[in-house]
Amino acid sequence: MLDRFNRNVNYLRISVTDRCNQRCVYCMPKEGVTLLKHEDILSFEQILQVVKIAVAKFGINKVRLTGGEPLIKRDIISLVLMIANVDGVEDLSMTTNGVLLNKYALPLKEAGLDRLNVSLDSVDRNEYKTITRCDNLERVLKGLDKAKKIGFRKIKLNCVIAGDMDRKRGQEVKKYADKHGFELRFIRQMDISKGEFWQVEGGDGGNCKKCNRLRLSSDGRIFPCLFSDISYSIKEPGIEEALKRGILNKPESGETADNNFSFIGG
Ligand code: 5AD
Ligand code: SF4
Repeated sequence: MLDRFNRNVNYLRISVTDRCNQRCVYCMPKEGVTLLKHEDILSFEQILQVVKIAVAKFGINKVRLTGGEPLIKRDIISLVLMIANVDGVEDLSMTTNGVLLNKYALPLKEAGLDRLNVSLDSVDRNEYKTITRCDNLERVLKGLDKAKKIGFRKIKLNCVIAGDMDRKRGQEVKKYADKHGFELRFIRQMDISKGEFWQVEGGDGGNCKKCNRLRLSSDGRIFPCLFSDISYSIKEPGIEEALKRGILNKPESGETADNNFSFIGG
């Protein structure tokens, strides 16, 4: 559906959990963040209802699952299957840190996931450890290898870069990506609370004029913009109304927000 600025909002990004099995320095403090209460987290049935209504009434045809880390969500494969089977979902993707990808790549593909975005900030073990505060590089690379063999339509790598000092790290990731045929996108480190956000190179992320996104948080709120605190709960006023208000009140461009990436999923 078109919003007030003639943007066709056709893309729903769903954060299935605010939890994560890593602690990237640009995303979370070492000790983690205040987590949502389990009873506030949407069930798969509720998420599916949102998808069905978003597709049938508002013309959403692209869906992405994010987190936190979506693959730590128990039974995530069945949610993928449920969403993939909704008529009108033409493109179903996931953003993951890849730590559990070796285990889940095949079931994800079989459940109907079309595309994967995997975070990869470094191909050096120590550097990776410093950034994510976890020693998971080997696992992620194994997972990527598996995903490639299985034949996902497209695998993109996300590499967060803070500044010039990260040039070498980025180049090494680029070499790895080229060697394996993965598409790489450099994402400039953002600080939502300070209103520091940038356009993602080679993508439409952060480009307000072309923004076609709507987000659903794991506690059931529709966020029309990553860089704004406006949200509408699907519990009250209800799914259809929350989606409608989200689209109609989507701001022309972002400003600042209290959200962090682990909550809203980037
Ligand atoms: N700035 C930019 N991107 C971020 N991400 C998380 N935190 C930030 C940040 N502060 C993005 C990364 C990661 C995805 C899950 O979210 O690209 O790959
Ligand atoms: Fe977890 Fe991704 Fe945030 Fe890193 S960037 S802490 S992997 S949610």
